[in-house]
Amino acid sequence: MRVAFVGKGGSGKTTMSALFARYTALRGGPVVAIDADINQHLGMVLGVADNEMPKPLGSHLTEIKDFLRGDNPLIESAAAMVKTTPPGRGSRLLRLDGDDSVHERFAVTTAEGVRLMVTGPFAESDLGVSCYHSKVGAVELYLNHLVDGPGEYAVIDMTAGADSFASGLFTRFDLTVLVAEPSRQGVGVYRQYRDYAADFGVSIVVVGNKVQGPDDVAFLRDQVGDDLFACFEHSAAVRAMEQGRPFTLSDLEPANLDGLARLLDRVDTQPKDWETFGRQTVEFHLRNAEAWANRATGADLKSQIDPSFVYGPAALALTG
Ligand SMILES: Nc1ncnc2c1ncn2[C@@H]1O[C@H](COP(=O)(O)OP(=O)(O)O)[C@@H](O)[C@H]1O
Ligand SMILES: [Mg+2]
Repeated sequence: MRVAFVGKGGSGKTTMSALFARYTALRGGPVVAIDADINQHLGMVLGVADNEMPKPLGSHLTEIKDFLRGDNPLIESAAAMVKTTPPGRGSRLLRLDGDDSVHERFAVTTAEGVRLMVTGPFAESDLGVSCYHSKVGAVELYLNHLVDGPGEYAVIDMTAGADSFASGLFTRFDLTVLVAEPSRQGVGVYRQYRDYAADFGVSIVVVGNKVQGPDDVAFLRDQVGDDLFACFEHSAAVRAMEQGRPFTLSDLEPANLDGLARLLDRVDTQPKDWETFGRQTVEFHLRNAEAWANRATGADLKSQIDPSFVYGPAALALTG
């Protein structure tokens, strides 16, 4: 199951992603956490030392594309592969508990058993539909080739930017958690995201963060309504961790721990919809091909679509 944390900068996406990844690992995982935020802090918050950080996906796009395309006859080269290029027969598929060369080369495992991957740093100017070398594109390729099942988790720390809308990345998740502080800006980002995602059947829940009392909860409930799923309190344990003190989940306030448990239950009850996933993969690839990718590659990228490819566990049997 894929869970993305989105929201305004500073709302707590990275904090929530790290807490949730730790929690799922504690409950047995497997869990892969991916840092796709503009400010790359997830490793730090997961307790990974600077000199132990994984190699960034975004700097190894060619290698990743070459691995994923395998011997798919519809994809001639890594250069012809863009972030939306879908898998087909012959492509290599990924498992969350897999030891394929993407996980082996680009993930490090934390002491708590979370596997961390990172896009590498990027700037606001790197975002946008026409960015051929998009670092976040590595995440889209990864998710398009991932076959995940119940009880397995990919946690993505995301920027709530236009890039994920243009490319279709925002449709690659089973559940999108919008992290909002109890402020007008916080709920403003929620409304924008909700309005855009509504046409694509994206499942969103809102998690209020750094909530300081009943007035904050009432504000969020008033502004967000039924989409408000949980509220996380301002946490002394998180603050202490930020100040460099050792942290484990047992330090977390009971109400916040309960929020994590509820969120995991919510993810576990979310139905998996491979049919929609496959349809949207193709839809966004066609859109990107026309918008920029045909021009960028000098090829007709429509032809990369394998009409007989079936998304989900059935594909594993086909590709062996
Ligand atoms: N529930 C919380 N309690 C206390 N501090 C928090 C909480 N959530 C986030 N923070 C702090 O707020 C700051 C921004 O959080 P961060 O997760 O980095 O936001 P984002 O990834 O959305 O930019 C960090 O210093 C973080 O430690
Ligand atoms: Mg962040």
